[in-house]
Amino acid sequence: MKLELRGITKRFGPLVANDAISLTVEPGEIHCLLGENGAGKSTLMNVLYGLYPADDGEVLLDGEVQHFKSPGDAMRAGIGMVHQHFMLIPVFTVAENVILGHEQTKPGGRLDLGAARQQVREISQRFGFDLDPDALIESLPVGVQQRVEIIKALSRDAKVLIFDEPTAVLTPQETEDLMRIMRQLRDQGAAIVFITHKLQEVRDVADRITVIRLGKVVGEALPTASNAELASMMVGRAVALEVEKGPSHPTDAALVVSGLRVADPHDQIVVRDVSFTVHGGEVLAIAGVQGNGQTELTQALVGLQPKVTGSITLDGDELVGRSVRQVLDAGVGYVPEDRSSDGLVGGFTIAENLMLDRSSGGPFVKAGSLQLKVLGDFAQQKVQEFDIRALGSSEFAGQLSGGNQQKVVLARELSRDLKLLVAAQPTRGLDVGSIEFVHKRIIAARDAGIPVVVVSTELDEVTQLADRVAVMFRGAIVGIVPADTPRETLGLMMAGEMPGGVKAA
Ligand SMILES: Nc1ncnc2c1ncn2[C@@H]1O[C@H](COP(=O)(O)OP(=O)(O)OP(=O)(O)O)[C@@H](O)[C@H]1O
Ligand SMILES: [Mg+2]
Repeated sequence: MKLELRGITKRFGPLVANDAISLTVEPGEIHCLLGENGAGKSTLMNVLYGLYPADDGEVLLDGEVQHFKSPGDAMRAGIGMVHQHFMLIPVFTVAENVILGHEQTKPGGRLDLGAARQQVREISQRFGFDLDPDALIESLPVGVQQRVEIIKALSRDAKVLIFDEPTAVLTPQETEDLMRIMRQLRDQGAAIVFITHKLQEVRDVADRITVIRLGKVVGEALPTASNAELASMMVGRAVALEVEKGPSHPTDAALVVSGLRVADPHDQIVVRDVSFTVHGGEVLAIAGVQGNGQTELTQALVGLQPKVTGSITLDGDELVGRSVRQVLDAGVGYVPEDRSSDGLVGGFTIAENLMLDRSSGGPFVKAGSLQLKVLGDFAQQKVQEFDIRALGSSEFAGQLSGGNQQKVVLARELSRDLKLLVAAQPTRGLDVGSIEFVHKRIIAARDAGIPVVVVSTELDEVTQLADRVAVMFRGAIVGIVPADTPRETLGLMMAGEMPGGVKAA
């Protein structure tokens, strides 16, 4: 089915999120949509999917004008969407989520879950997913939840498929699988829109590329364009794709982790006797395939894991046994890997989110009352400094684009007086320009003498930011090596092997 968007305009109050955007996607084509955080990509897709009415313009399928009033209409017309922010219901099972919105019922009105289960199994098999139809969504890692979204979109035989940043939460292997699935669907004649900030992925799968900036189409590019060309077209300036950093000047040991063990709610050991030291003025990057204990380790560092033994000291003070509040108050900055559940309150404004984890309100509360002017000025300054694309600091965080939500979390955590920075997937969902900025800020924190722990599944990010790299596998640290260790060696370590002759750092 051929998809055409003609002159789509969408405003939110005074903000023009989409300004007369036109786009054509042919059947059998993967069309990449590239653009900065807040450029209007998700908005355009939400209009197409019937979530928002357009203020102007039309959507055509095979030449016929459509009038979608809801996603249900769009689905019935053959459009499937994998959302940037998951739209799954956490307390429902996989199968229940898949049929949500197009429930099949048995005589007597009961839900036909059996059919849904069968469908989940079939699609899983077709695409090589390993998915239990009866698992509860909330018990699944994000990468697996993503697959549920994909199955949900595919379960309706969609002819037009929208993937809004699906790879941000996937492992490299999962990303490869998804690319394979997208190519497979394309070859079967689907028209596919693919949104990603990872330029390599764009060049790998795109048949055509459209770049949008500030709500407008600024041009088309070919998949043969270089990363630098694509980046500058997107952001409107040249972007440094490599981090510039001088040698580190480590100070006395600051963060010392020894014999750390974390058990999950079922008493399975998920972090095994982990020990490492991070000096002030250096970045220790923790690499590994997602799901090897990194999440639990970072959560343990900030007091978010209940079943912890061993020791974590910061400048000599024991942190194990302290509450999250106490740890944050001790000067620990924390960027969680999942901003929407742990980092932000969507129903709070940007300004309110910026003061979230300051106990007793920090500088914003005097004699028990909130200093609105002080907070407002601070927020305004951060919005500018971090280039948070919003109408103002009183906008609700939940209305920001994905990347801009991430910038709010970073702005808050990097603006406190820090003794330690723990950042998990700090640039997830950010555009290339913003990644450049965040990397600079992390290096600036290091150069100011702060110990920094960065957890990232992106090997590029790891090797660029790190002074030393710790690789995790099945809850344990395989080894700690210098940042210039060859990628192949890191790859082997990520699979649990410590090759002979590798120098420890
Ligand atoms: N429901 C809403 N209410 C008000 N403003 C909104 C709403 N949804 C989006 N916006 C605004 O519209 C603009 C475009 O946002 P959109 O989510 O489309 O960006 P995006 O290109 O998908 O960015 P990202 O790469 O960060 O996901 C942003 O300035 C955002 O704040
Ligand atoms: Mg988006």
